[in-house]
Amino acid sequence: MPIKKASPEIVTLGSKLITSDKVISVMTETVYGLLANAESCEAVKKVYLLKKRPEINPLIIHVDSISMAKKYAVFNEDVLKLARNLWPGPLTLVLKSKENSNITPIAMAGLNTIALRIPDSKVFLEIINKSKKPIAAPSANKSGYITSTNASHVYDSFGEKVDLIIDSGQSKFGLESTILDLTNKPYNILRTGMYDKELIYKRTKLKIFKNRSHFNEKNPIAPGLLKKHYSPKTPLRLNANKPRKDEVFLAFGNQRKIKCGFNLSENADLNEAAYNLFDFLIRSDQLKKKKYQ
Ligand code: TXA
Ligand code: MG
Repeated sequence: MPIKKASPEIVTLGSKLITSDKVISVMTETVYGLLANAESCEAVKKVYLLKKRPEINPLIIHVDSISMAKKYAVFNEDVLKLARNLWPGPLTLVLKSKENSNITPIAMAGLNTIALRIPDSKVFLEIINKSKKPIAAPSANKSGYITSTNASHVYDSFGEKVDLIIDSGQSKFGLESTILDLTNKPYNILRTGMYDKELIYKRTKLKIFKNRSHFNEKNPIAPGLLKKHYSPKTPLRLNANKPRKDEVFLAFGNQRKIKCGFNLSENADLNEAAYNLFDFLIRSDQLKKKKYQ
């Protein structure tokens, strides 16, 4: 069984596995990631194969400091402001990449831009620090399926094929990071997440827009924008007020009169709902999916 509780020994083992081009899974404050040494073509390929991820879809590269990020991307004053005020945290910055970096081109899907993030996760930061490697890490789910927010979700998706799953409980936010494209002005949100443009403005005084004109199904800039994503195996009906026969009801807010499968937040708290969303979707799917396989 590859699931091990987080401890200093397990973190050391994790960093050794990374430097030997193995794939491991670790909790971040957003969701669980599937980690590979971003300098190793072999390790990054394993991630694409495990996830069945199309190779045109680049990965986020995780670093442990701004100085490390500067090795891989061009920083200007605005980027620095965002990084200083919002990292470590649930924010990914897409920047112009530096030429001749050691990152394997397949991690960036051959693009001349790079997505960078410093995760707010002690275990993850220690693994970067000990391995001294930039780390490519997509969310630890099969491509297109619901994102993993705890260790058993990761095990359910990949079983023994991941060498180590470090269990640090459930991810604090439960949603993937907000992605900003800073390669052109006006700056643009490519994927929404826990940090919205209001929060970003408050902390940095930088204006971010949400321009979907770049959206293109065949060549997506960020697949969070694809029509089919985070998709359970069971058919899902949105905006339902009550369940029909044979449905699991995923409720929000006070629903005492209705028999719920799960309630995302009885107090209608959006943060609590985000924390529960993927876990409850996976659990609902597990209750129902047999019928649809
Ligand atoms: O919270 C997160 O961001 C998690 C944790 C593990 O850090 N990671 C994550 O990775 O969500 P993934 O692979 O599920 O989503 C990464 C997104 C994809 O939509 C990808 O297309 C986009 O980032 N991306 C990566 N590099 C990019 C680039 N150069 N330009 C635009 N989008 C990029
Ligand atoms: Mg994902």
